[in-house]
Amino acid sequence: MFVLLLTAGLGMVVLLSVLFAPHIRKYAAGGVCMSQVRLDGKTALITGANTGIGKETAQDLAARGARVVLACRDVEKGEEAAADIRSKVPGAKVEVRELDLADTCSIRAFAQRFLKEVNHLHILVNNAGVMMCPYMKTTDGFEMQLGVNHLGHFLLTYLLIGLLKRSAPARVVVVSSWAHVFGWIRFHDLQSLGSYNSGLAYCQSKLANVLFVRELARRLAGSDVTVNSVHPGSVCSDLVRHSTVMSLLFALFSILLKTPREGAQTSVYCSVAEELYPVSGKHFSDCATAFVAPQGRSDKTARQLWDVSCELLGIEWE
Ligand SMILES: NC(=O)c1ccc[n+]([C@@H]2O[C@H](COP(=O)([O-])OP(=O)(O)OC[C@H]3O[C@@H](n4cnc5c(N)ncnc54)[C@H](OP(=O)(O)O)[C@@H]3O)[C@@H](O)[C@H]2O)c1
Repeated sequence: MFVLLLTAGLGMVVLLSVLFAPHIRKYAAGGVCMSQVRLDGKTALITGANTGIGKETAQDLAARGARVVLACRDVEKGEEAAADIRSKVPGAKVEVRELDLADTCSIRAFAQRFLKEVNHLHILVNNAGVMMCPYMKTTDGFEMQLGVNHLGHFLLTYLLIGLLKRSAPARVVVVSSWAHVFGWIRFHDLQSLGSYNSGLAYCQSKLANVLFVRELARRLAGSDVTVNSVHPGSVCSDLVRHSTVMSLLFALFSILLKTPREGAQTSVYCSVAEELYPVSGKHFSDCATAFVAPQGRSDKTARQLWDVSCELLGIEWE
């Protein structure tokens, strides 16, 4: 009897999903960037742009006429993405450069070359990310998720901030996540040496993104360089590759997920929308301001994380 009821229930869910699929998809797609702004003569840099949300962001900015640099750890994959973008956007000015955010030497080498090759940087999208990987360390010994998602981008932004200021008005967009809500900064064990939970480490790194934006916006006040964070939504991408449970959930509920193009809308919005010109230090989702958890609104934690990050990276960023 129970099996019969379960089968009937599941059947009903499947039937309703099929019937309402177009409505569900429309709802799941979320906000759309309506700005028609052109970016001719502008330069944009996007990390992790060989796939997923980053690639779609790159394609959109390239279609608006920007010179777009795809910063990827695997140059071959980057070139494939660039070729694909060129095939869809004739005349797209896309270039690939090697950048491994899990290695500070790679980040410094990338920035050194970038600063030689490029005179202006108007849009920096800190998009690359790793989620729920088994315990791993970056080349410099940082826990991988904190190292790539937060510290790698922190160092990259530090190395490029002078160029951004010289190119002002300029924007920094940091791709965080709603997952920051479940995060807290474990200052007593930032590298998860005592205990490691891959999900909580991801949430910590995404909260670090939000706090970085808060403190950077405060420091950039009056500079004409703005910085905002983004939750792209739940997006069908390779991000869940390390988690069997998340991969299963994403496969089961794929109808509720955004496509990478839909997921890129808020990154694009924060990169280009005219009405956001003076807005800084905010968090966005579906092309609108979004909720930030209390731990993401703490100036004290933001400053403490800033200081610890500088210490770990061996930099002085006043
Ligand atoms: N998908 C979602 O539902 C979702 C939700 C909330 C937030 N986000 C955030 O959105 C951003 C983009 O994610 P996505 O969904 O587009 O995932 P994705 O398809 O897996 O893309 C992640 C990108 O980051 C790159 N990357 C990973 N480690 C790197 C490293 N050490 N150095 C340089 N690049 C590295 C990847 O390169 P490889 O291809 O070489 O691995 C890839 O290009 C991430 O920051 C993620 O946290 C995603």
